[in-house]
Amino acid sequence: MEDILDRLCATVPDYPKPGIVFKDLTPAFADAEGLRAIVDAIVAPFAGEFDLVAGIEARGFLLASAAAYATGTGVLTVRKAGKLPRETFTEEYALEYGTAALEVHTTDIPDGARVLVLDDVLATGGTVGAAVRLVNRCGGTVVGVGVVLELEALGGRGALVGQRVHSLQRLGD
Ligand code: PRP
Ligand code: MG
Repeated sequence: MEDILDRLCATVPDYPKPGIVFKDLTPAFADAEGLRAIVDAIVAPFAGEFDLVAGIEARGFLLASAAAYATGTGVLTVRKAGKLPRETFTEEYALEYGTAALEVHTTDIPDGARVLVLDDVLATGGTVGAAVRLVNRCGGTVVGVGVVLELEALGGRGALVGQRVHSLQRLGD
């Protein structure tokens, strides 16, 4: 898996601002073999343990939709605030400057659903943490968190205490 990611993940220095080295997975998603390998690997540890895949706008949608289709499950749409038309739960999370928020429809999780939360990158864990809280508020049970890349220096795993976190590649400083 790591060789595929090394080959298909682009590294972009000084994006979105000087000093940040951005990891861009779009070439991996655009590659047929890469997309299949990523999706298969991200769900593998949780096989048979989930009924619903939570996809976090925007890049998490790509993974969650493919993973749900491949495993015969559904997708929970976790959107940035203000995008969903019906009653929602809202959870805020910290950004470098200020806060952002994610939302789900209050009725979109079937009672007792076992939910796998997917996103492309785990950095501080703020985004995934908010998604986990939303699933819990809707009455779902989070069985695990899957991400493609884990930026270890930003401490996301530590922010998700009690969650089973599976990353396909851990990147140090
Ligand atoms: C990016 C990435 C993760 C999140 C990780 O999303 O896709 O969702 O940051 O950071 P964190 O662990 O510190 O919360 P972002 O909202 O920047 O953009 P996107 O809408 O393109 O997914
Ligand atoms: Mg994102």
